[in-house]
Amino acid sequence: ETNKTFTMIKPDAVANGHIGAILDKITKSGFKIVALKYTALSAAKAGEFYAIHKERPFYSALVEFMSSGPIVAAILEKDNAVEDFRKLIGATDPSKAEEGTIRQLFAKSIEANAVHGSDSDENAQIEGSFFFSAFEKF
Ligand code: CMP
Repeated sequence: ETNKTFTMIKPDAVANGHIGAILDKITKSGFKIVALKYTALSAAKAGEFYAIHKERPFYSALVEFMSSGPIVAAILEKDNAVEDFRKLIGATDPSKAEEGTIRQLFAKSIEANAVHGSDSDENAQIEGSFFFSAFEKF
């Protein structure tokens, strides 16, 4: 599944009213939405999703932030999806994100950074399956 990636619109961007603008930017950049869900992560679920960062100093704050309010989860399809989506969202730290990227436009801090994007094809598959069943992908 090299042509798919997974994204979340994080609690900060949802709370700040950016769902529509972010989805618009994603679709206008050539990504097709193949699954979409407005939901929320419990602290336990957020911890599970970010288990790879368990040993990092920012882990507990990240889990708390990601469970602080609703999110939007989506699976996106495009040629070269993982790499192209990471270009579209920009650097993790929005102060270092390129002009016109989603994080430069909508993110406030390295933690509250508006969107998540998978970092590999393998993780895109794992993360998409975390939120969506086969019956929810079109
Ligand atoms: P994301 O792409 O979702 O993957 C891991 C997340 O951890 C990242 O976006 C940020 O929200 C957060 N993160 C990464 N590095 C830091 C950091 N140095 N301090 C705080 N949060 C971080």
